[in-house]
Amino acid sequence: MYPKEQIHAFQELAKEYIKHPHTIELNSLKKLLRFNEYQYYVLNEPLISDYEYDQLYQQLLSIESANTSLITPDSPSQRVGNSLNANFTTEPHLVPMLSLENSYNAEDLIDFDRKAVEGAGTTPLIYCVEPKFDGASISLVYENDLLVRACTRGDGIAGEVITQNIKQIKSIPLSIPLSSFGIQQFEIRGEVIMSKDAFSVFNEKLKLKQQATLANPRNAAAGSLRMKDPKEVAERNLDAFIYHISYVLPIKGATLTPLLQSHSGSLSLLWNLGFRSPQKERKIITGIQNVINYCTEFEIGRDQLPYDIDGLVIKIDDTPLQEKLGMTSHHPRWAIAYKFKARQATTIIESVEFQVGRTGAVTPVAKLQPVALGGVTVSSISMHNEEYIKEKDIRLGDTVIIERAGDVIPQIVQSISSLRKGTEKKIIFPTTCPVCNSELEKEESEAVWRCNNTLCKAQIVERIIHFVSKDAMDIKSFGEANIRKFYELGLLQNIPALYQLELEKISGLEGFGKKSIENLKVAIANSKSQPLYRLIYGLGIRFVGETTAKTIASQIHHILDLQNFTEEQLQSFEDVGIKVAKSIFQFFHDAKNIELLEQLASLGLNMTQTEHAKADGNLAGLNFLFTGTLTQLKRSEAESNVESRGGHILSGVSSKLHYLVVGEDAGSKLEKAKKIATIKIITEAEFIDLIK
Ligand code: IVH
Repeated sequence: MYPKEQIHAFQELAKEYIKHPHTIELNSLKKLLRFNEYQYYVLNEPLISDYEYDQLYQQLLSIESANTSLITPDSPSQRVGNSLNANFTTEPHLVPMLSLENSYNAEDLIDFDRKAVEGAGTTPLIYCVEPKFDGASISLVYENDLLVRACTRGDGIAGEVITQNIKQIKSIPLSIPLSSFGIQQFEIRGEVIMSKDAFSVFNEKLKLKQQATLANPRNAAAGSLRMKDPKEVAERNLDAFIYHISYVLPIKGATLTPLLQSHSGSLSLLWNLGFRSPQKERKIITGIQNVINYCTEFEIGRDQLPYDIDGLVIKIDDTPLQEKLGMTSHHPRWAIAYKFKARQATTIIESVEFQVGRTGAVTPVAKLQPVALGGVTVSSISMHNEEYIKEKDIRLGDTVIIERAGDVIPQIVQSISSLRKGTEKKIIFPTTCPVCNSELEKEESEAVWRCNNTLCKAQIVERIIHFVSKDAMDIKSFGEANIRKFYELGLLQNIPALYQLELEKISGLEGFGKKSIENLKVAIANSKSQPLYRLIYGLGIRFVGETTAKTIASQIHHILDLQNFTEEQLQSFEDVGIKVAKSIFQFFHDAKNIELLEQLASLGLNMTQTEHAKADGNLAGLNFLFTGTLTQLKRSEAESNVESRGGHILSGVSSKLHYLVVGEDAGSKLEKAKKIATIKIITEAEFIDLIK
């Protein structure tokens, strides 16, 4: 982006300014800092040391603080967010943010090409192939050379405004020379990612702080977009690839740059403007067969990249042709994603542990010889239940193939019996609880063995962990590791003890300074006023998930009202069947549980339904269920859209269901719904129309 002579000039200037700070001219200092940000964050080719950069940056701060009227919105100092983001507001995208059609093999690609050739009326087609970055998508708007807004994808039509967080990503310029390309305003799309290196550094930091580590770079990137504190975003060292120009408003009378005539040209334009576009990563390929060959080859080397990708995106390069082909309500007809296969690895089962969960279910966990699988090291893997082990004939000492698709947790695909040496042993399921020694029991209709001793230590700890968790009482700064530690130390023996913790005793413990104890105090105190459904969910009543907890909460005033319902009455609640009703009934007819609730009430926890379900939304009284993979909305977004409009989410297909929203690869729920005439079966696009 910068010509050679200018690079030299910048280097000279840096030396000069560091030696003789009194000669600094503010505008050229800003340009100098921007240039060095670009070298470091976009090109990965720093030309001055971090120390030198810092000296220059400090000079900028001191000039600006002496005269605040000199601060411009694109000054490098304006990335730093000093205040917390209040609630994020929502803004419509200038152009809806579409998704991509997926393909998994050569046939899918040939099919895509056939339709595209038909629509385009020309062959062979010229494609631009680029990585499919595995992160979180964003939309940016620049106006009069300045970044004015950054949004999440949201529901595709409108997204949440996250400008301050996006400004923490140093490869995203705050100002660009748009006007010199004849453009007054444009909207661009890209993906926020975290490099593999940044991810491991960040996870190490979390470990040091005894906080839960993040599962993968994608979660780390996606989870940061809506953070309240921009400083926390800055700590994650995120990056962004910008790969699409979705809208261009020319300056009146100006001729637009010819670069916009092709996708590869747009990538060059973005690059010339100072963005990290996949300019070097993209490849122009003629004809689908060559594209297929390229995809196959690229897939083999996918792990060599310094960041995660989950496939390639194949785009018709010619922009007028793209326009001719147009788009469906879901995806453009001129592009397709080629998704890589799940990653596999082989390793050996070294031992098996039996873990006792919150409801007493005993889960066999295979401890593996650690193996790298798609950027993470896998050393243990759940084998679900006894049946699973038998079906797959998994033995101790076996070599197994394991697989991880996307960010899904790893699974054992199969054991390789031909590699057995004869020393492998059958996995024997215990008959007594590995923690409290009680006899394990199994119900006929179930696959799991259970420890039914509610006083079993393992269950108590897991119940506390569940109670504290994000979807339940959401007591932040209280990680799983700390709960286990406090339990072992005898400081936290049950749920009420959370509210009676003697925090002074904790202050001596490692990792608990004054500040973290203060945070913990506030988090525990705040949790007392959580809405009723969180308490109901947090109690860990069997079969009562978050959705059911919300339904129940909306039907009662005080939690102890549930003592007065018969099983039949409970069944009349939406989403509550025989099994769930029985479990709720039992829970509220167990003296120990009532005592627990009374104790929690006396400790000041909210026990009543304060926020009544909105009855005025356009989906009031309607029950929804989503099945299959949604491609435009995240499942959680779709569900909260229903709830905020007064509707309910059910957990299964029944005659109480009004709408089944069907995504890709829908299975048994769809089949079941087809048999119930009163259920309306709609697509994701139809659902979006419904909530518009
Ligand atoms: S193009 C109309 N290009 O993949 C343009 N998307 O599964 C549509 N993605 O929502 C997007 N890398 O978040 C495009 N090189 C790339 C991409 C890419 C990642 C994401 C994007 C999109 C999702 C669809």
